Order: sequence, then structure tokens, then C-alpha cells
Amino acid sequence: MRLILLGPPGAGKGTQAKLLIEAFGIPQLSTGDILRAAIRARTPMGLEAKAVMDRGDLVSDEVVNGIVSERLDQEDARKGFILDGYPRTIPQAEALDQMLVEKGMALDAVVEITADADTLTRRIVNRAKENAGAGARADDNEDVIRNRLAVYREQTAPLVEHYRQKGLLRTVDGMAPVEQVAAAISKAVGA
Ligand code: AP5
Repeated sequence: MRLILLGPPGAGKGTQAKLLIEAFGIPQLSTGDILRAAIRARTPMGLEAKAVMDRGDLVSDEVVNGIVSERLDQEDARKGFILDGYPRTIPQAEALDQMLVEKGMALDAVVEITADADTLTRRIVNRAKENAGAGARADDNEDVIRNRLAVYREQTAPLVEHYRQKGLLRTVDGMAPVEQVAAAISKAVGA
């Protein structure tokens, strides 16, 4: 199974990816997680990405395309993968299309998880409160959330049409409880 989880910040991409890992035994590939690991490790890529991520803007297409291409070449991605938070721009989607052709892979589905802006903001603010002691994400505060949502609308939402035209788009209601969203995704991808 080769899937993309598409949706705004707080929609539940990471939460659902974790459940899909268990259900399908395939790895989650989260560009956000990989970039945060690079920041913690203080690699040159991490140092460059930090300020951009802290503002809620997008890291360059070139950097994230490189991350994904390398990760897809790893052994565990051969039997499938869940892309979480990538692609996020039309040029990234086009780079991924090309990458998959070169690697002889094809997507099974792109699952769009939807939720309204108030819910997304509330979830992220709650997560920041829950993790306050243990190091909340630097981009989980209300000002940055506004920008993350605007960036999603401007740069990522056009991907919905990109994948609809390819016949790959499935949309699920991310406002439902976690287990119901998971069931809807399984149904949408025919699992
Ligand atoms: P990234 O790490 O991808 O963050 P994001 O897209 O902003 O998403 P979140 O992790 O906040 O939300 P999510 O949809 O995964 O929801 P979650 O399951 O966590 O990206 C961070 C940054 O990295 C970007 O801003 C950018 O700078 C950079 N970046 C990453 N990828 C990039 C790319 N491809 N190109 C360029 N830059 C890139 O859930 C959120 C909360 O809600 C949790 O507390 C959860 O418990 C709760 N929750 C989830 N589902 C439900 C539910 N159904 N009901 C109730 N609560 C729920």
C-alpha cells in the first residue's frame, strides 16, 4: 500500500499514520518528523530549516524532495509507505510523480483529511499545553498556527485538485473521533 495523507496542520495525519503502520506494517514517512530530528541533531539541514519551521513557512522543495527520495530508497519502503506531510506544494507533487516513475512505484491513494479551522487551532493549542513541560513544538502556538493554516490554503490545498484529476483522491471527515477516522480511511483505501 502506497499512500499520501494530505490535510491541514492538526487534521490528524500523524495520528492516523501511526494506526496505518500497525494495520499495514508499512513505514510512515513524515517530512516534519525528519526535519525536527535534523534540528535536534543540529545538522546543517536542521539549522537551515529551524527558522523557517518556527515561522510556519515551508522548507524548500529541493530539501524535502531530497529527503523523500533518499527515504524511499530504503529497504523498508519497498513494500509500501505512508507519506505524511509531503508533498505540500505543486512542484513537490510533480517531483514525487517523477520520482515514483523512476523508482518503478505507483501510488494507491491520496487521503485528504478535512477539519475546520477552529478545530485545527484548538487541537494544536491543546497539544502545546499537554507538551509544555516536555518541550512543545516551537510552531505550536496561536500566531504560528494562523500562518501554518494560511500556508496550507495557499500552497498545499491545490494538491487536492492535482490528485483528484489523477483519480487518486479520497476524502475523509477528520472531525470524527480518531477510531472513526481510521475506519473511514481503511474503507476509502479498500482495506
Ligand atoms: P508537520 O510536522 O508535517 O506538521 P503539520 O502538517 O503542521 O501537522 P501536525 O503534525 O501539526 O498535524 P497532523 O495533521 O499530523 O495532526 P496530528 O495527528 O499531529 O510540518 C511541520 C513543519 O515542517 C511545516 O510547517 C514546514 O515548515 C515543515 N515541513 C514539513 N513537511 C514539509 C514539506 N513537505 N515541505 C516543506 N516544509 C515541510 O494531530 C494533532 C493533534 O490533534 C494531536 O494532539 C492529536 O492527538 C489530535 N487529534 C488528531 N486526530 C484527532 C481526532 N480525530 N479527534 C480529536 N483529536 C485529534
